[in-house]
Amino acid sequence: MAFSLRDRVAGDAHSNTLKEKGYDRARLAILVLASASGGVVSVGEESLRLGIIGCGMMGRRHLEALSRLPDIKLMAFCDVLTERAEELAHRSGGTVYDNPERMLDEAALDAVYVVLPPFAHGLAERAAIERRIPMFIEKPIGADLSLCREIGAMVQEAHLLTSVGYHNRYRRTVRRAGDIFRSDRPVMACATWTSGLPLAPEQLTSRAWTLQRARTGGRFAETAGHSVDILRAFMGKVVAMSAFRAPPRAFNREACQEYDLDDVEVVMLQFASGAVATVSVTVAAQAGAGTTLSVFAGRHTAHFSGWEHNLHLVAVDGEGCRTDEDYPAEPPSWADWDHWRRTGSLSQVEAGASDDAFTIENRAFIKAVRKGDPGSICTTYADALETSEITLGIANCLGTGRKL
Ligand SMILES: NC(=O)c1ccc[n+]([C@@H]2O[C@H](COP(=O)([O-])OP(=O)(O)OC[C@H]3O[C@@H](n4cnc5c(N)ncnc54)[C@H](O)[C@@H]3O)[C@@H](O)[C@H]2O)c1
Repeated sequence: MAFSLRDRVAGDAHSNTLKEKGYDRARLAILVLASASGGVVSVGEESLRLGIIGCGMMGRRHLEALSRLPDIKLMAFCDVLTERAEELAHRSGGTVYDNPERMLDEAALDAVYVVLPPFAHGLAERAAIERRIPMFIEKPIGADLSLCREIGAMVQEAHLLTSVGYHNRYRRTVRRAGDIFRSDRPVMACATWTSGLPLAPEQLTSRAWTLQRARTGGRFAETAGHSVDILRAFMGKVVAMSAFRAPPRAFNREACQEYDLDDVEVVMLQFASGAVATVSVTVAAQAGAGTTLSVFAGRHTAHFSGWEHNLHLVAVDGEGCRTDEDYPAEPPSWADWDHWRRTGSLSQVEAGASDDAFTIENRAFIKAVRKGDPGSICTTYADALETSEITLGIANCLGTGRKL
């Protein structure tokens, strides 16, 4: 039986509920002691009790990744469309809910996954924070910047362990380039997210929100937030931004009625270092090339291509290049980052991103919950909030071209 942070904090007040759920007296005594002393009880190697709020495409994806990890029990599934929660419960066992608060009150969870569309955030996070339950939140953290700020302040005040699903930061290729760019500072970067319309009309009933500005926070926030997250990690703080757009149906003339995304959004970011990046997004290029990201520093260039972020790394005199086999599949610890910097003899190297970033990010979150230590997490809520300050801030200036 595992204990959640909520248990640790709630102590006596929660003990009756816990007894009803089968916690034995000795463990309850530990909880009450820990609660009284303010100490942290390590969940250790016991099975973690997890729940998922939002059982759509990504809820399923996280269930699949979590089911590959040892000592995990999926106890509860919540969705406003209960048939979706039932589908996941059917796969792994667990109880079905249509209300996040009731689920968090009843399921005695060690951690919760919030896998909701951008417009649906708020209730689930507040409920988890009030009950001191660590949260994994799928990106982006919301479509409403003031709500994200409010939740960010609550997370900070509660010192709650959080992780946000910008999973590309866990990729070996991205970590490898980030390692190099820590000392060879980037001067310029270009990212693109290019596709045709994201949905066929027959799919609209279930995922129409992906075509709508207000419910996604805009296409730039919903998709290119991944690139902004990486660029912030590589290039530091953004100090100015501007944006231009081609409005809905400028090119996508045949788009369905629900569609009100910009056809094109092009954003320029200036970093405190003086470096500049462009991030360009279109859903009006049917033969679009998916995702690309090129980062240029004084002595190194990293070209990432595809959803997998395959890496083509070019270096002056081979500085910083290593063969791919030398590079660890997962970092030994984030604190040991410097250990992996080496000087090699290659001038160019291709690195395929074969790693399963969803599994790695889930493993990192589970490790953090077990240890009560966020050290393995790449993007916390506070970090993701800085990305949302940029991506949702962009929505305010699109179409004006004014500098923010
Ligand atoms: N990390 C990635 O690469 C990646 C990829 C795709 C999507 N996403 C993100 O994941 C999030 C979820 O996307 P999805 O594709 O799973 O969407 P989806 O529409 O397939 O699933 C969302 C589910 O949430 C449910 N829901 C909506 N409001 C709810 C509420 N208030 N309470 C409980 N359930 C509610 C819906 O009924 C639906 O089943 C989005 O923010 C999306 O941007 C991330």
